[in-house]
Amino acid sequence: MATYETILVETDSRGTKGVTLLTINRPQALNALNSKVLEELIHAFAAYQADATQLCAILTGSGDKAFAAGADIKEMSDKAAADFFLDDFFSPWTAEIVKKTRKPWIAAVNGFALGGGCELAMMADFIIASDKARFGQPEIKLGVAPGMGGSQRLTRAIGKSKSMEMCLTGRMMNAEEAERSNLVARVVPHEELIAETLKTAATIAGMPPMAVIANKEMVNSAFEMTLDQGLIVERRIFQILTASEDKAEGMAAFIEKREGQWKGR
Ligand code: CAA
Repeated sequence: MATYETILVETDSRGTKGVTLLTINRPQALNALNSKVLEELIHAFAAYQADATQLCAILTGSGDKAFAAGADIKEMSDKAAADFFLDDFFSPWTAEIVKKTRKPWIAAVNGFALGGGCELAMMADFIIASDKARFGQPEIKLGVAPGMGGSQRLTRAIGKSKSMEMCLTGRMMNAEEAERSNLVARVVPHEELIAETLKTAATIAGMPPMAVIANKEMVNSAFEMTLDQGLIVERRIFQILTASEDKAEGMAAFIEKREGQWKGR
């Protein structure tokens, strides 16, 4: 297994078969996302994607205070506009992590998820938040604006009015408001965040693998396509799944009143 400086990786985390736990591990900087974190997360997500024994991942932050307090301001402060432009700064987050990870991953938000931290959480397939989680896009206070998807993914998640208010004022949203606004799937007591997220991830990891990937692809299509196009994608994927061995097994298991034994084909 690779060793990393800024993240921790645990496969079959805490005995949970099929679940990989990734932890951003810069608690002294509130898990701010510098280029090393990006490089290592790209590597770790690729390893998760390639490991056929793992079917769900969780991303969280170390320490008690932050999931991630944003892109690393100290690293960005000396860069010139040309550097950001020529490097297409921030583009690998979506291109290398979101687009290339076909298997699901859950953000377990354990504290501040601000700026790039909020944006990273929103890249996950869904968010489970601790009751101490705080979400925000405070970039405006730094004289900039979201750069890792905040203005787009936040607006799609919670609607224009709330997203606009958050981006223009930089105010934070607590976990209760985030759940009410559909930003997060569920809020759990802080101390139970990882245990609860592991349970949800274990449920996913126990499902037929092709169906897991197919379901993720379908729901994501809803963000990219018109309703007519999305419905076609959904039907075609459904039809392809009916040719799988796991479809035959799943339906037989239902009729025979037993648990399915998945082959992943
Ligand atoms: N980048 C670099 N370092 C950061 C950081 C960040 N985004 N956020 C926190 N830190 C560091 C602090 O500098 C501090 O380090 P030192 O001890 O060396 O001074 C350490 O983490 C602890 O932070 P604080 O002392 O500030 O802790 P606090 O409890 O008083 O405040 C906070 C917590 C409200 C989250 C505050 O740290 C804060 O406002 N952080 C910045 C949040 C932010 O603006 N995020 C957006 C970044 S820009 C971005 O993300 C662009 C994009 O769209 C991708």
